[in-house]
Amino acid sequence: MASVRLKEITKRYGKVVALDHLSLDVNDGEFVVVLGPSGCGKSTALYTIAGLESADEGEIYIGDRMVNEVEPKERDIALVFQNYALYPHMTAEQNIAFPLKMRRLGEAEVSSRVKRIAETLRIDHLLARRPAQMSGGEAQRVALARAMVREPVAFLMDEPLSNLDANLRLHMRAELKRLQKELKVTTIYVTHDQAEAMTMGDRVAVISRGRLQQFGTPDQIYSRPRNSFVASFVGSPPMNLIEGELQLNGHQISFASNDLTLQLPELAGSALRSETTPARVSLGIRPEDLTTTAETWSIFAQGVVYVVEPLGSHSIVDVQVGDTILKVQEGARYSHDIGDRVELRFRTEGLHVFRGTGGEAVF
Ligand SMILES: Nc1ncnc2c1ncn2[C@@H]1O[C@H](COP(=O)(O)OP(=O)(O)OP(=O)(O)O)[C@@H](O)[C@H]1O
Ligand SMILES: [Mg+2]
Repeated sequence: MASVRLKEITKRYGKVVALDHLSLDVNDGEFVVVLGPSGCGKSTALYTIAGLESADEGEIYIGDRMVNEVEPKERDIALVFQNYALYPHMTAEQNIAFPLKMRRLGEAEVSSRVKRIAETLRIDHLLARRPAQMSGGEAQRVALARAMVREPVAFLMDEPLSNLDANLRLHMRAELKRLQKELKVTTIYVTHDQAEAMTMGDRVAVISRGRLQQFGTPDQIYSRPRNSFVASFVGSPPMNLIEGELQLNGHQISFASNDLTLQLPELAGSALRSETTPARVSLGIRPEDLTTTAETWSIFAQGVVYVVEPLGSHSIVDVQVGDTILKVQEGARYSHDIGDRVELRFRTEGLHVFRGTGGEAVF
């Protein structure tokens, strides 16, 4: 096991900058999830660590050793691809044993390692079957076993659950998280699914266009997004963002858009006073920090219910304020219906202010 460190890695494909000065410090034994939209450079990052692609600039360390010039097979890293290809003519046992046989390990050693990993992944009962005789989730576990049986210093996983059905994904998500905690193998896990990232990672690295946007615990990423990209990429439904400007009237700072004006709390004042006003900003608020049913929060605006989406455990209500629609999280049995006038209340602690239209958090 070892730490993995990327220092200012840049990777270009012709004119495309796939990775742009990407730095990432993954501690020994840590589970880090790399999260970002399609094409942002997630796979490129993994391939660069594994040595399947070379970096144009920057340094890669595994443990204390710089590995830029080290051959992939000497890096002792296991990469699980999105399309895990098992050998169809081999049984699960033969598939798992394959990488060990390639390394010319003795028969007894191979069989004891295969047995151990099969127990860990709870696939003992599948060992005699061929891939065609397994479900997608079972084949996935066999593929993981094949990657893990070598006992590498780190695991790299590229969207390993993406071709499983929704239920199986949830199941495997929990299993993988547990397994990683048991084995304590440094793991870098790539996904574009924010729920997967939030639930699995010790820390999450959010990437957009090859650049690191934020690297922190799921709670930090969710509660204190560093910019409006992170704010809108993490959370379902995502954070509401309203464009407008900050206005200073005496001691009060308020936010004004075409459709609503909100007095911001004292707390915001001290952080925002140094901003030049009026300044273009986006105001951010998550659906759970808005309500139309409780009267506990003082800041409010008048709105009209646009649509109600019951989701079983709770409802998402779209509330229209002028031309702006805000998503509000309400309880399971929502009392209002389309067209009802409501008072939309904002939880002060849930307010975020981002500079410009795509900018950094200032509050
Ligand atoms: N071999 C290549 N030649 C040219 N461009 C490439 C190559 N591989 C990747 N790219 C480009 O580099 C960028 C990053 O690609 P990458 O595959 O790392 O994205 P990703 O985040 O893994 O996306 P996805 O979620 O769709 O898998 C993309 O713009 C892609 O088109
Ligand atoms: Mg990819």
